[in-house]
Amino acid sequence: MPEQTRTFARMIASLGEEAEAINWYEQRISVEKDESAKAIMQNAQKEEFKHFEMDLEFLLRQKPL
Ligand SMILES: [Fe+2]
Repeated sequence: MPEQTRTFARMIASLGEEAEAINWYEQRISVEKDESAKAIMQNAQKEEFKHFEMDLEFLLRQKPL
C-alpha cells in the first residue's frame, strides 16, 4: 500500500478516536456533580474537538476537489 494511503488510514483512525473521546467526555460531563471536575472535562472535550478538526482538515487537504 502506498505510504500516502497508509498515512490517510492512520488519520482516519485518529479521527474516529477523537470522536470517541468527545463522546466519552460528553457522557462524563452529563453526570458529574463536582463543578471543578466538570470544568476540567469540558476543557478537555474542547481540546478533543480541536484534534478532530485538525485530523479532518488534514484529510480534506489530501483530497482537493
Ligand atoms: Fe485527542
